[in-house]
Amino acid sequence: MALQITDLNEMQILVENYRRIIEISRQLNSTLEHRSLLQQIISAVTEILQTEAASILLIDPITGELKFEIASNINPHAMETIIVPMEGSIAGWIATHGEPRVIQDVTQEPGHFQAVDDTIAFKTRNLLGVPLRTHKKVIGVIQAVNKQGSEKFTEADVNTLTILASQAAIAIENARLFRQSDFIAEMVHELRTPLAGLKASTTLLMRPTLPEEKRTDIINLIQSETDRLIRLTTEFLDLAQLESGRTRLEITKFELTRFIEESIEVLRPQAQEKGISIELEGPSMVVAGDRGKLKQVLLNLLTNAIKYNRPHGKIFLRWQLDGDFVHLQVVDTGYGISKENQKQMFQKFFRVADTAGFTQGTGLGLVITKHIIEAHGGEIWLESEEGVGTSFHFTLPMK
Ligand SMILES: Nc1ncnc2c1ncn2[C@@H]1O[C@H](COP(=O)(O)OP(=O)(O)O)[C@@H](O)[C@H]1O
Ligand SMILES: [Mg+2]
Repeated sequence: MALQITDLNEMQILVENYRRIIEISRQLNSTLEHRSLLQQIISAVTEILQTEAASILLIDPITGELKFEIASNINPHAMETIIVPMEGSIAGWIATHGEPRVIQDVTQEPGHFQAVDDTIAFKTRNLLGVPLRTHKKVIGVIQAVNKQGSEKFTEADVNTLTILASQAAIAIENARLFRQSDFIAEMVHELRTPLAGLKASTTLLMRPTLPEEKRTDIINLIQSETDRLIRLTTEFLDLAQLESGRTRLEITKFELTRFIEESIEVLRPQAQEKGISIELEGPSMVVAGDRGKLKQVLLNLLTNAIKYNRPHGKIFLRWQLDGDFVHLQVVDTGYGISKENQKQMFQKFFRVADTAGFTQGTGLGLVITKHIIEAHGGEIWLESEEGVGTSFHFTLPMK
Protein backbone atom coordinates (compact mmCIF):
# COMPACT_ATOMS: atom_id res chain seq x y z
CA MET A 1 0.00 0.00 0.00
CA ALA A 2 2.71 2.41 1.08
CA LEU A 3 4.61 1.54 -2.03
CA GLN A 4 1.70 2.50 -4.22
CA ILE A 5 1.44 5.90 -2.63
CA THR A 6 5.09 6.52 -3.32
CA ASP A 7 4.51 5.50 -6.91
CA LEU A 8 1.59 7.85 -7.09
CA ASN A 9 3.75 10.61 -5.67
CA GLU A 10 6.48 9.90 -8.15
CA MET A 11 3.92 9.84 -10.90
CA GLN A 12 2.58 13.20 -9.81
CA ILE A 13 6.05 14.68 -9.76
CA LEU A 14 6.73 13.28 -13.20
CA VAL A 15 3.50 14.67 -14.62
CA GLU A 16 4.20 18.02 -13.00
CA ASN A 17 7.70 18.00 -14.49
CA TYR A 18 6.40 17.30 -17.97
CA ARG A 19 3.83 20.02 -17.57
CA ARG A 20 6.66 22.43 -16.68
CA ILE A 21 8.74 21.22 -19.62
CA ILE A 22 5.92 21.83 -22.06
CA GLU A 23 5.37 25.27 -20.59
CA ILE A 24 9.08 26.05 -20.87
CA SER A 25 9.32 24.77 -24.44
CA ARG A 26 6.60 27.16 -25.38
CA GLN A 27 8.50 30.02 -23.74
CA LEU A 28 11.77 29.00 -25.36
CA ASN A 29 10.29 28.96 -28.81
CA SER A 30 9.13 32.52 -28.42
CA THR A 31 12.52 33.83 -27.24
CA LEU A 32 15.00 34.73 -29.92
CA GLU A 33 17.31 36.84 -27.82
CA HIS A 34 20.29 34.57 -27.10
CA ARG A 35 21.07 35.68 -23.51
CA SER A 36 17.58 35.57 -22.12
CA LEU A 37 16.95 32.28 -23.89
CA LEU A 38 19.94 30.64 -22.21
CA GLN A 39 18.97 32.21 -18.90
CA GLN A 40 15.52 30.67 -19.16
CA ILE A 41 16.94 27.26 -19.96
CA ILE A 42 19.27 27.10 -16.98
CA SER A 43 16.63 28.44 -14.58
CA ALA A 44 14.33 25.69 -15.80
CA VAL A 45 17.03 23.08 -15.23
CA THR A 46 17.81 24.12 -11.64
CA GLU A 47 14.12 24.41 -10.85
CA ILE A 48 12.93 21.10 -12.29
CA LEU A 49 15.94 18.99 -11.36
CA GLN A 50 16.35 20.77 -8.02
CA THR A 51 20.03 21.46 -8.32
CA GLU A 52 22.28 24.22 -7.00
CA ALA A 53 23.56 25.21 -10.40
CA ALA A 54 23.27 24.60 -14.13
CA SER A 55 25.35 25.50 -17.14
CA ILE A 56 25.41 25.37 -20.90
CA LEU A 57 28.59 24.83 -22.89
CA LEU A 58 28.60 25.31 -26.64
CA ILE A 59 31.05 24.07 -29.24
CA ASP A 60 32.48 26.98 -31.21
CA PRO A 61 31.46 26.20 -34.81
CA ILE A 62 34.76 27.54 -36.12
CA THR A 63 37.42 26.53 -33.62
CA GLY A 64 35.65 23.45 -32.28
CA GLU A 65 36.46 24.55 -28.72
CA LEU A 66 34.06 23.84 -25.90
CA LYS A 67 33.25 26.94 -23.87
CA PHE A 68 30.80 28.00 -21.20
CA GLU A 69 28.02 30.03 -22.74
CA ILE A 70 26.12 30.53 -19.53
CA ALA A 71 26.32 29.17 -15.99
CA SER A 72 24.32 30.08 -12.93
CA ASN A 73 27.43 29.78 -10.74
CA ILE A 74 30.13 31.37 -12.90
CA ASN A 75 30.47 35.05 -13.65
CA PRO A 76 30.67 36.00 -17.34
CA HIS A 77 34.27 37.16 -17.07
CA ALA A 78 35.52 33.88 -15.61
CA MET A 79 33.49 31.95 -18.19
CA GLU A 80 35.27 33.65 -21.06
CA THR A 81 38.66 32.53 -19.82
CA ILE A 82 37.85 28.85 -19.43
CA ILE A 83 38.25 26.51 -22.36
CA VAL A 84 37.01 23.07 -21.38
CA PRO A 85 39.18 20.38 -22.94
CA MET A 86 37.42 17.84 -25.14
CA GLU A 87 39.60 15.17 -23.61
CA GLY A 88 39.99 15.30 -19.85
CA SER A 89 36.62 16.73 -18.91
CA ILE A 90 33.17 15.27 -18.39
CA ALA A 91 31.52 17.88 -20.62
CA GLY A 92 34.08 17.06 -23.33
CA TRP A 93 33.27 13.36 -22.97
CA ILE A 94 29.54 14.07 -23.34
CA ALA A 95 30.13 16.28 -26.39
CA THR A 96 32.34 13.74 -28.16
CA HIS A 97 30.28 10.66 -27.27
CA GLY A 98 26.90 12.36 -27.65
CA GLU A 99 25.58 10.54 -24.59
CA PRO A 100 24.34 11.59 -21.13
CA ARG A 101 26.57 11.06 -18.14
CA VAL A 102 25.83 11.00 -14.42
CA ILE A 103 28.59 11.50 -11.89
CA GLN A 104 27.24 10.90 -8.39
CA ASP A 105 30.53 11.77 -6.72
CA VAL A 106 33.09 13.82 -8.61
CA THR A 107 35.81 13.05 -6.07
CA GLN A 108 35.70 9.47 -7.40
CA GLU A 109 35.86 10.66 -11.00
CA PRO A 110 39.28 11.10 -12.58
CA GLY A 111 37.70 12.63 -15.71
CA HIS A 112 36.47 15.70 -13.81
CA PHE A 113 37.99 18.95 -15.06
CA GLN A 114 39.11 20.50 -11.78
CA ALA A 115 40.22 23.81 -13.33
CA VAL A 116 36.65 25.12 -13.44
CA ASP A 117 36.06 24.71 -9.71
CA ASP A 118 39.47 26.20 -9.00
CA THR A 119 38.77 29.25 -11.14
CA ILE A 120 35.39 30.04 -9.63
CA ALA A 121 35.87 28.74 -6.07
CA PHE A 122 32.91 26.41 -6.34
CA LYS A 123 32.65 22.87 -5.14
CA THR A 124 31.10 20.44 -7.58
CA ARG A 125 29.83 17.38 -5.70
CA ASN A 126 27.83 15.64 -8.39
CA LEU A 127 26.61 16.39 -11.85
CA LEU A 128 24.43 15.27 -14.68
CA GLY A 129 25.18 16.31 -18.23
CA VAL A 130 23.49 15.60 -21.55
CA PRO A 131 24.42 16.59 -25.09
CA LEU A 132 22.62 19.38 -26.92
CA ARG A 133 21.96 18.10 -30.39
CA THR A 134 20.32 19.36 -33.57
CA HIS A 135 19.87 17.18 -36.65
CA LYS A 136 22.24 14.57 -35.29
CA LYS A 137 24.97 17.11 -34.65
CA VAL A 138 26.08 17.86 -31.10
CA ILE A 139 26.30 21.63 -30.57
CA GLY A 140 27.11 21.60 -26.87
CA VAL A 141 26.37 20.22 -23.44
CA ILE A 142 23.91 21.11 -20.73
CA GLN A 143 24.81 20.32 -17.14
CA ALA A 144 22.92 20.19 -13.87
CA VAL A 145 25.30 20.52 -10.92
CA ASN A 146 24.90 19.50 -7.26
CA LYS A 147 21.57 17.93 -6.52
CA GLN A 148 20.04 19.70 -3.55
CA GLY A 149 20.30 18.04 -0.14
CA SER A 150 21.88 14.62 -0.22
CA GLU A 151 19.77 13.37 -3.13
CA LYS A 152 21.25 11.50 -6.04
CA PHE A 153 20.48 12.00 -9.71
CA THR A 154 17.81 9.55 -10.83
CA GLU A 155 16.89 7.93 -14.13
CA ALA A 156 13.93 10.33 -14.24
CA ASP A 157 16.37 13.26 -13.96
CA VAL A 158 18.30 11.96 -16.96
CA ASN A 159 15.08 11.72 -18.96
CA THR A 160 13.90 15.14 -17.90
CA LEU A 161 17.20 16.81 -18.77
CA THR A 162 17.31 14.99 -22.11
CA ILE A 163 13.90 16.36 -23.03
CA LEU A 164 14.86 19.85 -21.87
CA ALA A 165 18.09 19.60 -23.86
CA SER A 166 16.31 18.71 -27.09
CA GLN A 167 14.01 21.70 -26.64
CA ALA A 168 16.95 23.93 -25.73
CA ALA A 169 19.00 22.82 -28.75
CA ILE A 170 16.19 23.72 -31.14
CA ALA A 171 15.69 27.08 -29.46
CA ILE A 172 19.44 27.85 -29.59
CA GLU A 173 19.55 26.91 -33.26
CA ASN A 174 16.51 29.10 -33.97
CA ALA A 175 18.13 32.03 -32.21
CA ARG A 176 21.28 31.46 -34.30
CA LEU A 177 19.29 31.46 -37.52
CA PHE A 178 17.53 34.58 -36.39
CA ARG A 179 20.86 36.32 -35.78
CA GLN A 180 21.83 35.41 -39.33
CA SER A 181 18.67 37.01 -40.67
CA ASP A 182 19.55 40.02 -38.50
CA PHE A 183 22.80 40.16 -40.40
CA ILE A 184 20.90 40.14 -43.69
CA ALA A 185 18.79 43.06 -42.48
CA GLU A 186 21.92 45.01 -41.52
CA MET A 187 23.54 44.14 -44.80
CA VAL A 188 20.59 45.39 -46.84
CA HIS A 189 20.64 48.56 -44.78
CA GLU A 190 24.34 49.06 -45.61
CA LEU A 191 23.63 48.56 -49.30
CA ARG A 192 20.88 51.12 -49.34
CA THR A 193 23.13 54.05 -48.45
CA PRO A 194 25.32 53.91 -51.58
CA LEU A 195 22.30 52.97 -53.67
CA ALA A 196 20.44 56.04 -52.48
CA GLY A 197 23.53 58.10 -53.35
CA LEU A 198 23.61 56.64 -56.84
CA LYS A 199 19.94 57.30 -57.39
CA ALA A 200 20.29 60.94 -56.31
CA SER A 201 23.31 61.36 -58.58
CA THR A 202 21.67 60.00 -61.69
CA THR A 203 18.59 62.12 -61.07
CA LEU A 204 20.84 65.20 -60.96
CA LEU A 205 22.72 64.13 -64.10
CA MET A 206 19.47 64.03 -66.04
CA ARG A 207 18.89 67.76 -65.50
CA PRO A 208 19.62 69.50 -68.77
CA THR A 209 20.58 72.72 -66.97
CA LEU A 210 23.37 71.10 -64.96
CA PRO A 211 26.67 72.98 -65.31
CA GLU A 212 29.52 70.97 -66.84
CA GLU A 213 31.83 71.07 -63.77
CA LYS A 214 29.03 69.77 -61.55
CA ARG A 215 28.60 66.90 -63.99
CA THR A 216 32.20 65.78 -63.39
CA ASP A 217 31.76 65.96 -59.62
CA ILE A 218 28.69 63.79 -59.82
CA ILE A 219 30.36 61.23 -62.05
CA ASN A 220 33.22 60.99 -59.54
CA LEU A 221 30.69 60.45 -56.78
CA ILE A 222 29.00 57.70 -58.78
CA GLN A 223 32.39 56.10 -59.29
CA SER A 224 33.19 56.03 -55.58
CA GLU A 225 29.74 54.83 -54.57
CA THR A 226 29.87 51.95 -57.05
CA ASP A 227 33.33 51.06 -55.68
CA ARG A 228 31.81 50.97 -52.24
CA LEU A 229 28.99 48.73 -53.43
CA ILE A 230 31.43 46.33 -55.03
CA ARG A 231 33.51 46.18 -51.85
CA LEU A 232 30.45 45.68 -49.67
CA THR A 233 29.01 42.88 -51.75
CA THR A 234 32.35 41.09 -52.00
CA GLU A 235 32.86 41.27 -48.24
CA PHE A 236 29.29 40.20 -47.48
CA LEU A 237 29.72 37.19 -49.68
CA ASP A 238 33.07 36.27 -48.13
CA LEU A 239 31.68 36.55 -44.65
CA ALA A 240 28.47 34.68 -45.39
CA GLN A 241 30.53 31.85 -46.85
CA LEU A 242 32.92 31.74 -43.89
CA GLU A 243 30.05 31.81 -41.40
CA SER A 244 28.14 29.05 -43.09
CA GLY A 245 31.15 26.78 -42.64
CA ARG A 246 31.04 25.94 -46.35
CA THR A 247 34.48 27.40 -46.95
CA ARG A 248 37.13 24.80 -47.73
CA LEU A 249 40.70 25.81 -47.16
CA GLU A 250 43.02 24.95 -49.98
CA ILE A 251 46.20 24.26 -48.10
CA THR A 252 49.52 24.49 -49.90
CA LYS A 253 53.07 25.06 -48.73
CA PHE A 254 54.82 28.30 -49.55
CA GLU A 255 57.72 30.49 -48.51
CA LEU A 256 56.60 33.23 -46.13
CA THR A 257 58.91 36.14 -47.04
CA ARG A 258 58.07 35.93 -50.72
CA PHE A 259 54.39 35.70 -49.94
CA ILE A 260 54.59 38.78 -47.72
CA GLU A 261 56.52 40.78 -50.31
CA GLU A 262 53.97 39.86 -52.93
CA SER A 263 51.11 41.02 -50.72
CA ILE A 264 52.83 44.31 -49.99
CA GLU A 265 53.33 45.06 -53.69
CA VAL A 266 49.55 45.32 -54.04
CA LEU A 267 49.44 48.05 -51.41
CA ARG A 268 52.60 49.93 -52.32
CA PRO A 269 50.79 52.74 -54.21
CA GLN A 270 48.32 53.25 -51.36
CA ALA A 271 51.16 53.48 -48.83
CA GLN A 272 53.23 55.82 -51.01
CA GLU A 273 50.31 58.16 -51.43
CA LYS A 274 50.34 58.73 -47.66
CA GLY A 275 54.15 58.64 -47.47
CA ILE A 276 54.04 55.53 -45.29
CA SER A 277 57.00 53.16 -45.17
CA ILE A 278 56.68 49.43 -44.62
CA GLU A 279 59.52 47.49 -43.01
CA LEU A 280 59.78 43.71 -42.97
CA GLU A 281 61.63 41.63 -40.44
CA GLY A 282 61.59 37.87 -40.08
CA PRO A 283 63.36 34.67 -41.05
CA SER A 284 62.78 32.72 -44.19
CA MET A 285 60.45 29.77 -43.59
CA VAL A 286 57.95 27.55 -45.32
CA VAL A 287 54.40 27.66 -44.01
CA ALA A 288 51.25 25.75 -44.91
CA GLY A 289 47.92 27.45 -45.43
CA ASP A 290 45.36 28.73 -47.89
CA ARG A 291 47.48 31.20 -49.81
CA GLY A 292 44.56 33.22 -51.21
CA LYS A 293 42.78 33.54 -47.88
CA LEU A 294 45.94 34.36 -45.96
CA LYS A 295 46.69 37.05 -48.50
CA GLN A 296 43.29 38.50 -47.70
CA VAL A 297 44.28 38.51 -44.02
CA LEU A 298 47.52 40.36 -44.68
CA LEU A 299 45.86 42.82 -47.05
CA ASN A 300 43.11 43.56 -44.53
CA LEU A 301 45.55 44.21 -41.70
CA LEU A 302 47.97 46.19 -43.85
CA THR A 303 45.19 48.27 -45.43
CA ASN A 304 44.01 49.17 -41.94
CA ALA A 305 47.57 49.98 -40.88
CA ILE A 306 47.78 52.39 -43.84
CA LYS A 307 44.27 53.82 -43.58
CA TYR A 308 44.40 54.43 -39.85
CA ASN A 309 48.01 55.61 -39.80
CA ARG A 310 49.16 59.21 -39.70
CA PRO A 311 50.70 60.76 -42.82
CA HIS A 312 54.36 59.70 -43.14
CA GLY A 313 53.79 57.05 -40.54
CA LYS A 314 55.44 53.64 -40.39
CA ILE A 315 54.39 50.04 -40.59
CA PHE A 316 56.46 47.14 -39.31
CA LEU A 317 55.62 43.63 -40.35
CA ARG A 318 57.46 41.14 -38.16
CA TRP A 319 57.26 37.39 -37.91
CA GLN A 320 59.01 34.71 -35.93
CA LEU A 321 58.72 31.08 -34.98
CA ASP A 322 57.01 30.52 -31.64
CA GLY A 323 56.80 26.85 -30.69
CA ASP A 324 54.56 25.10 -33.22
CA PHE A 325 53.30 28.43 -34.52
CA VAL A 326 54.49 31.30 -36.60
CA HIS A 327 53.65 34.56 -34.86
CA LEU A 328 53.11 37.57 -37.11
CA GLN A 329 52.55 41.17 -36.17
CA VAL A 330 51.48 44.22 -38.09
CA VAL A 331 52.54 47.31 -36.17
CA ASP A 332 51.47 50.84 -37.09
CA THR A 333 52.16 54.34 -35.81
CA GLY A 334 48.57 55.49 -36.18
CA TYR A 335 45.89 56.91 -33.91
CA GLY A 336 45.55 53.81 -31.81
CA ILE A 337 42.31 52.41 -30.45
CA SER A 338 40.81 53.08 -27.02
CA LYS A 339 40.39 50.23 -24.53
CA GLU A 340 36.62 50.49 -24.91
CA ASN A 341 36.74 50.23 -28.71
CA GLN A 342 39.29 47.41 -28.63
CA LYS A 343 36.63 45.14 -27.16
CA GLN A 344 34.38 45.63 -30.19
CA MET A 345 37.07 45.36 -32.83
CA PHE A 346 35.96 41.98 -34.16
CA GLN A 347 32.25 42.74 -34.29
CA LYS A 348 30.41 43.02 -37.56
CA PHE A 349 30.03 46.56 -38.91
CA PHE A 350 31.95 48.06 -36.01
CA ARG A 351 33.94 51.15 -36.97
CA VAL A 352 35.47 53.67 -34.61
CA ALA A 353 33.30 56.75 -34.97
CA ASP A 354 36.24 59.22 -35.40
CA THR A 355 37.92 57.26 -38.17
CA ALA A 356 34.67 56.32 -39.90
CA GLY A 357 34.25 59.98 -40.78
CA PHE A 358 37.31 60.32 -43.00
CA THR A 359 37.94 56.83 -44.35
CA GLN A 360 35.86 54.42 -46.36
CA GLY A 361 35.17 51.00 -44.94
CA THR A 362 32.59 48.44 -44.04
CA GLY A 363 33.57 47.28 -40.58
CA LEU A 364 33.74 43.71 -41.87
CA GLY A 365 37.44 43.37 -42.69
CA LEU A 366 38.53 42.29 -39.22
CA VAL A 367 35.60 39.92 -38.80
CA ILE A 368 36.59 38.16 -42.02
CA THR A 369 40.24 38.19 -40.98
CA LYS A 370 39.47 36.53 -37.63
CA HIS A 371 37.35 33.86 -39.32
CA ILE A 372 40.16 32.97 -41.74
CA ILE A 373 42.84 32.83 -39.04
CA GLU A 374 40.71 30.68 -36.75
CA ALA A 375 39.80 28.36 -39.61
CA HIS A 376 43.56 27.78 -39.93
CA GLY A 377 43.79 26.98 -36.22
CA GLY A 378 45.43 30.28 -35.31
CA GLU A 379 44.51 33.20 -33.10
CA ILE A 380 44.31 36.96 -33.52
CA TRP A 381 44.52 39.73 -30.94
CA LEU A 382 45.61 43.33 -30.69
CA GLU A 383 47.50 45.77 -28.55
CA SER A 384 46.96 49.45 -28.95
CA GLU A 385 47.70 52.76 -27.34
CA GLU A 386 45.85 55.90 -28.27
CA GLY A 387 48.06 58.42 -30.02
CA VAL A 388 50.89 55.88 -30.36
CA GLY A 389 49.71 53.07 -32.61
CA THR A 390 48.31 49.61 -32.91
CA SER A 391 49.78 46.12 -33.25
CA PHE A 392 47.70 43.31 -34.62
CA HIS A 393 49.12 39.88 -33.77
CA PHE A 394 48.16 36.56 -35.24
CA THR A 395 49.44 33.03 -35.19
CA LEU A 396 49.33 30.17 -37.65
CA PRO A 397 50.15 26.58 -36.81
CA MET A 398 53.23 25.31 -38.63
CA LYS A 399 51.71 21.89 -39.26
N1 LIG B 1 45.34 49.63 -37.34
C1 LIG B 1 44.27 50.28 -36.88
N2 LIG B 1 44.41 51.45 -36.20
C2 LIG B 1 43.32 52.12 -35.74
N3 LIG B 1 42.04 51.73 -35.91
C3 LIG B 1 41.84 50.59 -36.59
C4 LIG B 1 42.93 49.79 -37.10
N4 LIG B 1 42.40 48.71 -37.71
C5 LIG B 1 41.08 48.82 -37.59
N5 LIG B 1 40.71 49.93 -36.93
C6 LIG B 1 39.35 50.37 -36.57
O1 LIG B 1 38.53 49.21 -36.60
C7 LIG B 1 37.44 49.37 -37.50
C8 LIG B 1 37.10 48.05 -38.14
O2 LIG B 1 38.11 47.62 -39.03
P1 LIG B 1 37.73 46.72 -40.26
O3 LIG B 1 36.95 45.56 -39.74
O4 LIG B 1 38.95 46.44 -41.04
O5 LIG B 1 36.70 47.60 -41.09
P2 LIG B 1 36.95 48.84 -42.06
O6 LIG B 1 38.41 49.04 -42.25
O7 LIG B 1 36.25 48.44 -43.30
O8 LIG B 1 36.27 49.99 -41.36
C9 LIG B 1 37.90 50.45 -38.45
O9 LIG B 1 36.79 51.17 -38.97
C10 LIG B 1 38.75 51.33 -37.57
O10 LIG B 1 37.92 52.23 -36.87
MG1 LIG C 1 39.60 47.30 -42.87
